[in-house]
Amino acid sequence: MKAIDADDVSSNPSTNLHLNQVAAMVYSRRDVLKAGLAFGAVGFFGAGLSACDRSDAYPLLGFKSVAANSGDDVVVPEGYRHTVLCRWGDPLFADSPAWKGDASENAAAQALQFGDNNDGMRFFPLGAGNSREGLLVMNHEYINPEYFFTPDVQSGDTPWSQDHVRKSQHAHGVSVAQVQRQADGSWQVVVGAPYNRRIHANTPMELTGPVRGHEQVRTTASPAGESSLGTINNCGNGYTPWGTYLTCEENFNNYFGTTSGEDIRSPLMRRYGVSAAASEYRWEERDDRFDYAKEANESNRFGWIVEIDPFEPSSTPKKRTAMGRFKHENAALRLAADRRVVVYMGDDQADDYLYKFVSDATYDPALGDAENKARNLLENGTLYVAKFGAGAVSGDMMGDGQWIPLRLDTPAVAGGTLGDLYPDMGALLIATRLAADAAGATKMDRPEWVAVHPKTGEVYCTLTNNSGRSTTDDVNPRQKNVYGQIVRWREAGGDAAATSFEWDLFVLAGNPAAHDAGTLEAGSSNVNADNMFNSPDGLSFDADGRLWIETDGKYSNTGDFAGMGNNQMLVADPHSKEIRRFMVGPSACEITGISFTPDQRCVFVNIQHPGEYGGHPNQPETTPQQDPLAFSRWPDNGAGGRPRPATVVIWKADGGKVGT
Ligand code: FEO
Ligand code: CA
Ligand code: CA
Ligand code: CA
Repeated sequence: MKAIDADDVSSNPSTNLHLNQVAAMVYSRRDVLKAGLAFGAVGFFGAGLSACDRSDAYPLLGFKSVAANSGDDVVVPEGYRHTVLCRWGDPLFADSPAWKGDASENAAAQALQFGDNNDGMRFFPLGAGNSREGLLVMNHEYINPEYFFTPDVQSGDTPWSQDHVRKSQHAHGVSVAQVQRQADGSWQVVVGAPYNRRIHANTPMELTGPVRGHEQVRTTASPAGESSLGTINNCGNGYTPWGTYLTCEENFNNYFGTTSGEDIRSPLMRRYGVSAAASEYRWEERDDRFDYAKEANESNRFGWIVEIDPFEPSSTPKKRTAMGRFKHENAALRLAADRRVVVYMGDDQADDYLYKFVSDATYDPALGDAENKARNLLENGTLYVAKFGAGAVSGDMMGDGQWIPLRLDTPAVAGGTLGDLYPDMGALLIATRLAADAAGATKMDRPEWVAVHPKTGEVYCTLTNNSGRSTTDDVNPRQKNVYGQIVRWREAGGDAAATSFEWDLFVLAGNPAAHDAGTLEAGSSNVNADNMFNSPDGLSFDADGRLWIETDGKYSNTGDFAGMGNNQMLVADPHSKEIRRFMVGPSACEITGISFTPDQRCVFVNIQHPGEYGGHPNQPETTPQQDPLAFSRWPDNGAGGRPRPATVVIWKADGGKVGT
């Protein structure tokens, strides 16, 4: 059956409501779903929002889909090339020691090398439109101890030392690296370039915004509460129109614990998941900052978004507290109609929230980057949290929504206002999650990356999975959600600063080969046996409006996940909703971080934790300590002695735009 052109029915929001009302009279939820599956684009997604700019560049997807696989390599479409640009441990500076394949380097060496587990990333051209040379800025989220330390450290034969803690701290944070395209199309790091920089868990930073100087961020190292040391668990990223990079602190809680033997965590620490005793990374054993019994306010200095100027290597990174404290995934910017800066942000935890920040001051395109930078636009503004409504019909996976401001005068669901719970905005922002609880926000299926369509301004967010969900709603429609979905919304009047919106699900990931058609587990009509995936995570638009989707999911390739293979990157056409698999990663990795050259001829992608131990589908009897190459030999086919997270660059051999 010919699909109705989505533009025909949904460019006018009032038409959506009309169709919803008709649907309410005719269909139950399951009937609507079946209709959607049977009739392709018609049905429960057919009347949804549409990314409706069709003026150019169609068809958007021109490459031949890559088959799912469980191999140990990066696989790209026919006619594409790829190269490994940089890996954990590679040199950045003239005096960086070479990486040792046995993981025996010390903390001082690690501070001069690329960090571990690269995640969010942005290519900043050196000169407007330069697609051959730029600064590649990337996050280093965490370490995999099984590969990061020598076996004697992991087994406990060698005592845990301060150098081990420092080495781990130095592998976190951010790298700034000048990179250059070569004559053969590949890319290289310019080792020793003046812009090159490592920012890690001990780099001095400034606290800005309402939390600066607050009593809850005063510590031994910073009695005034105006500075902070370091950034950790840097997950996704953002970037600003004035040339700065935003790094997002996610699971900071995993670095805080205590050796005191007592669980004396505050309710605030518990809400954010600070470890009761030993932390995952054991820093508290050799660094008092990370023992919450010794330094009660230190954890309040993490969970923020940090603004970094990559073009000023000596600049002090700024923590932007007005954007809230939670497990920040990434940050997607858009200008409001009046040019206030709007930042969309997810809090990646099951049943946590989706936020947006609206700046007080406005961006001025007539000014240069330096002038806009000096305005500190992210320093003050209003933080909102999303409340999703069902709209006219329950169960049709579309609806309406409201942005609730998190201010002292905001009503609390239980009565009174947020001002009854928090004495000032600093205290409220430090407890952002608890304030959002009190305000009645919608509990989501782990909001990961947000991306804004460059032409329509519609906003998309990956909801990666939520296997513990028991109560469903329109936007989180499945119990025990193992596959995830992508929601998109359109702000009222097309203005990013609006306080209401309309939304629909762009895709409900699922497995149509493992589950009966018509079940929610089979996925939406744009999921099929050739493109299925689970746990969408990284998300980005290119300038033409292609939606690039990266996964961080189950790679067992059995049961619910049979036929999906390793984690992957897909490309979607927001208009037709077609999704095609563009790339498959090596064994047990996650695909994350994405950025394009200005000419869209190259895409930079991160391969995180190849060979990750735990949950490996073909778990060998050995451990990574015994045989580091048993789980993955990528990217050096064993030459490096162990798998390594790395950045790859992909380009089209004929010089065309990637994705075409
Ligand atoms: Fe660091 Fe939610 O991914
Ligand atoms: Ca609805
Ligand atoms: Ca992620
Ligand atoms: Ca994830």
